[in-house]
Amino acid sequence: MSVHVYEKLWMWGAGGLIVLFLAAIGITAVTQAVQPPSHIETINPATLMDHPEFGDPQVKVGEDGTVTASVVAEMFQFRPDPIEVPVNTPVVFRITSADVIHGFQIIGTNANAMAVPGYVSQFTMTFTKAGDYDIACNEYCGLMHHGMVGKITVTGGQQ
Ligand code: CUA
Repeated sequence: MSVHVYEKLWMWGAGGLIVLFLAAIGITAVTQAVQPPSHIETINPATLMDHPEFGDPQVKVGEDGTVTASVVAEMFQFRPDPIEVPVNTPVVFRITSADVIHGFQIIGTNANAMAVPGYVSQFTMTFTKAGDYDIACNEYCGLMHHGMVGKITVTGGQQ
């Protein structure tokens, strides 16, 4: 079988693009802090109301100064709202769902997690700018999915 020289050029070109794209994904995953959470923690969504942490989700400052924001996502809100955290301080976000899968994306940042019933999603985030940040649910969760938004208020430092 003979393949026309231009056909060969296009095939190698297309193959090269695929290799290039895969390399771009691989390199950014390693170098741009794209770290999938490795933390697995389960929770019973049916008894969330009585849970010591998620029964009344809030931001807590530990004795050593660590800030933990416990968040419940549910149709169609995030609790607490707003989530008030300090600037220039690592905040450990711990998120779970009371019903179906929701998203928890902090707009304008690279913070983005899923809120999955039965599990606690956790990541740490430091806000370097004070102000209000919007939270969007980015997993389709029902008729009011588009209206499921929340707010993070970052306070302190130079405003
Ligand atoms: Cu919650 Cu979409």
